[in-house]
Amino acid sequence: MAKILAIETSCDETAAAVVENGRKVLSNIIYSQAELHAKFGGVVPEIASRKHIEAIDKVVDEALSQSGNTFSDLDAVAVTSCPGLVGALLTGVSYAKALSYASKLPLISVHHIKGHIAANYLEDITLQPPFLCLVVSGGHTQIVHVKDYLTFEILAKTRDDAIGEAYDKVARVLGLPYPGGVKVDKMGQQGNPDKITFTKPKLGDTDDFSFSGIKTAVNCYIKKIIEKPITEYQDNEFLTEEGFSGLGLKVQEGGITKNDVAASFSKTVTKMLLDPFFKLAKEKGIRQVCMAGGVSANSFLRKEFFDRGEKLGLKTVCPHISLCGDNAAMIGSLAYFKYEKELFRDTSLNAIPYLSIEEEYR
Ligand code: KG4
Ligand code: ZN
Repeated sequence: MAKILAIETSCDETAAAVVENGRKVLSNIIYSQAELHAKFGGVVPEIASRKHIEAIDKVVDEALSQSGNTFSDLDAVAVTSCPGLVGALLTGVSYAKALSYASKLPLISVHHIKGHIAANYLEDITLQPPFLCLVVSGGHTQIVHVKDYLTFEILAKTRDDAIGEAYDKVARVLGLPYPGGVKVDKMGQQGNPDKITFTKPKLGDTDDFSFSGIKTAVNCYIKKIIEKPITEYQDNEFLTEEGFSGLGLKVQEGGITKNDVAASFSKTVTKMLLDPFFKLAKEKGIRQVCMAGGVSANSFLRKEFFDRGEKLGLKTVCPHISLCGDNAAMIGSLAYFKYEKELFRDTSLNAIPYLSIEEEYR
């Protein structure tokens, strides 16, 4: 039995959780700063760090009390130490180091993306590696072979933008506030996904992704057809009477609405993500598939992921929507597998802004 208090502050969520044996969430508190950053159109690192400092005490207290535990019931303190905004990470790292030192609990450092992957162990408590995981977040897009709880191989990755970045950019083009991915998803549910055919890039023989082209195609497309500021259009109002073809885009007859753009974009990127993913699962003979990261909450992607995985007879797992975005429960899960191996850190632990999951990291 091990109860771990986990802390996550890598971007704009201040989060703390208590997790038992890497599988059972006893509490999961998330304080999101998203609204605060919305007026700047994205996360402002300096503001994020300051807000983490203001919130962390309350968030940790709340996580402990909701779990029904005190410090004396805990077995370790875990914290996200990479990758992320360095000032934001440092808030959590410094706080966790102080807690560990004062309470004499072992300190465990967790890689944020490995944490996202571990959210699958909370969803399906029988899930064990090896499996193939599609990592789709604001900063990462990768197909990862999870060989063991702590061993990862990247089989494919984006050459440019992460899928979350592409969603947020398309949101901005559609006149939606930050963070726009979830709003594009909702809008798309009301639209026709077959209305516009966006070109998919070809990257030779590799399974790598590229999302900068389609992001730009949506931007150019919208700019060319609107006659007034995009924010003045209703979601289901026609953007043009005539439709538009150009930029390698095929447009069906009739008018296009913002909902149609969102739906067509979502359908196209879902295919771009899942075609190479399931191809690699087949090639490698992997029978279990998972998703991880904020964009795995996307309704188009989830539906297609389950449809295809189940049709192929694979064990198909995706974290509950509440555990797709940044949270500390996923950090507490991964930390357990380091706890089992006594992979502890001391007060020399530091924040690292960039680090691949393939790199050696205690
Ligand atoms: O994993 P995450 O919470 O943070 C990072 O580690 O980056 O991912 C955040 C990203 C943002 O780009 C956000 O717009 C996107 O996930 N996102 C979505 C949805 N929910 C969150 N994108 C598309 N559809 C959604 N439902
Ligand atoms: Zn994340």
